[in-house]
Amino acid sequence: MSSERGPDLPPVADRVLLDAGSIAERVRELGAAIAEDHAGEDLRLITVLRGGAMFLADLCRAVDASLQLDYMAVSSYVGGAPGAVRITKDLDDDIEGAAVIVVEDIIDTGLTLNYVLSMLRARKPASLGVCTLLDKDVRRIVDLPVTYRGFSIPDRFVIGYGLDLGGLYRNLPYVATVRDEAIL
Ligand code: PRP
Repeated sequence: MSSERGPDLPPVADRVLLDAGSIAERVRELGAAIAEDHAGEDLRLITVLRGGAMFLADLCRAVDASLQLDYMAVSSYVGGAPGAVRITKDLDDDIEGAAVIVVEDIIDTGLTLNYVLSMLRARKPASLGVCTLLDKDVRRIVDLPVTYRGFSIPDRFVIGYGLDLGGLYRNLPYVATVRDEAIL
């Protein structure tokens, strides 16, 4: 049950970092900026499953412009180069000539997105942008062009609003930090 002090945290969490209202307000601002920058273009919002799906669902409804959605999934190459990923679910649509924005829940080292962007760039979109809800920029290993950023966050493990710990907590309506002792 929620109380007047706010939602009850799961035991693995120690603090709400971003509450649902703050996220919703920022999502509206990001959506308005995307609509303004891409009016009249063949706009595609693409996310990398699974964590980004929740942000994409809210963000796309905040973009007052014609757009299409598409999804991809990747998995890490064990023993491959750092950040090397293979596509386990590719986009359904061709993106040549389109204004593509990759929508992520979080950018950490940037390695995953760096690979995804290089794969997408080879398909010759007219433009290729990035919109991330959370940016753990202090952890960045590769430099990435982040076009739209929701929040810069500290170097803490976070759950909620799409982000998981062992597959759980993606459905929390807020983003919370995880207690150090709960991280395996
Ligand atoms: C998260 C996130 C990014 C990646 C960021 O996905 O959605 O894709 O990690 O990390 P990086 O910047 O260090 O590469 P995750 O691997 O947790 O998969 P999930 O979305 O299915 O939870």
